[in-house]
Amino acid sequence: MKPRDSLGLRRGYHSPQLDVKVRLNTNESPFLPPEEFAPTLESKLRKLKLNRYPDRGYRLVREALARAYDSVPERIFCGNGSNEVLLNIALSYGGSGRRAVVFEPTYSLHSHIAKTVGTEVLVLQRNNDFSVTTPSIEQAESYSPDIVYLCSPNNPTGNLESTESLAKVVTMNAEPLVVLDQAYGDFVQEHLTSENFESENLVRLRTFSKWFNLAGLRFGFCEGSEEVISVLDEVVLPYHIDEVKQSAILAALELKELFDNQAQKVIDLRNELYKHLLEIGVKAHPTNANFILMEFEGRDPKVIWADLVRESVLVRDTSNWPYLPPSLRVTVGTANENAAFLSALEKTLKRMN
Ligand SMILES: Cc1ncc(COP(=O)(O)O)c(C=O)c1O
Repeated sequence: MKPRDSLGLRRGYHSPQLDVKVRLNTNESPFLPPEEFAPTLESKLRKLKLNRYPDRGYRLVREALARAYDSVPERIFCGNGSNEVLLNIALSYGGSGRRAVVFEPTYSLHSHIAKTVGTEVLVLQRNNDFSVTTPSIEQAESYSPDIVYLCSPNNPTGNLESTESLAKVVTMNAEPLVVLDQAYGDFVQEHLTSENFESENLVRLRTFSKWFNLAGLRFGFCEGSEEVISVLDEVVLPYHIDEVKQSAILAALELKELFDNQAQKVIDLRNELYKHLLEIGVKAHPTNANFILMEFEGRDPKVIWADLVRESVLVRDTSNWPYLPPSLRVTVGTANENAAFLSALEKTLKRMN
């Protein structure tokens, strides 16, 4: 048996989960959901009639998200994780005979998912500061893409896409669907002007796996024009958001303030961690997300990664990632986890001097 060649399978890509004390490799929140979440969810679960299919259009969830994110229900589409939203976008606007553009380094699932449905993917490179430049946007335009992926804050680099590049991309002659992945958008403190940027061909992607500490729940959504959302609604499998998940999202949105307070702590911890990394001589890239990309000026990140694992600390090994300088990426943890990571890192760096 032979799978389709264009699948672009990437065996060995996935982040290995090792049995360590401090796990800082997949950009989740270090905190459990607020205590109030379980009882709020429980009281909703008791009322469910699980012999019936769920509300296919998950109306209450759409309404609650629209209230929380200053939108309208008709502009919202949800998925089991924002990766599933990306899949439905690729199924609808990509596919055989269609083209997509990504600017690397960026979130690798954009090109991976596009390829799995047969889309041809053009890879363009970012500048040294990881920004998307005008020449690469012009190159993208000459390719007449059907989809262009942007990511703000960008994973794994942490920088924001500028309003200028976003404006240039959405006004391309080919009128591509522009997917602006804002999985880490809530962590941006200074309000981005592009937050208010609107265009009929722009779709913004969000997840409950980062700011809301609910990665285990698998929920994400996008906001776009009513036309795009109605296409996604036609393509997605029926009843894909189950009743239990709908209840959990409603419970989380009822308690949004408590989730916000926890995530705000992650921002404070991130700012402290960043400062400490600079103090011990690490080239930490400025970040607007819950992770930090680190370079080590001449030292081999792979050796550092292995040393950290020996100290029971797991970070993401990005040392061999294409389009990235040799580096490691650390997710912001609790104060104790960050201290354990910093102490292990400092020990390693001293040993390597
Ligand atoms: C930029 C970006 N987009 C989307 C996702 C997918 O998130 P999820 O499928 O958990 O919603 C991730 C996960 O790490 C990410 O980093």
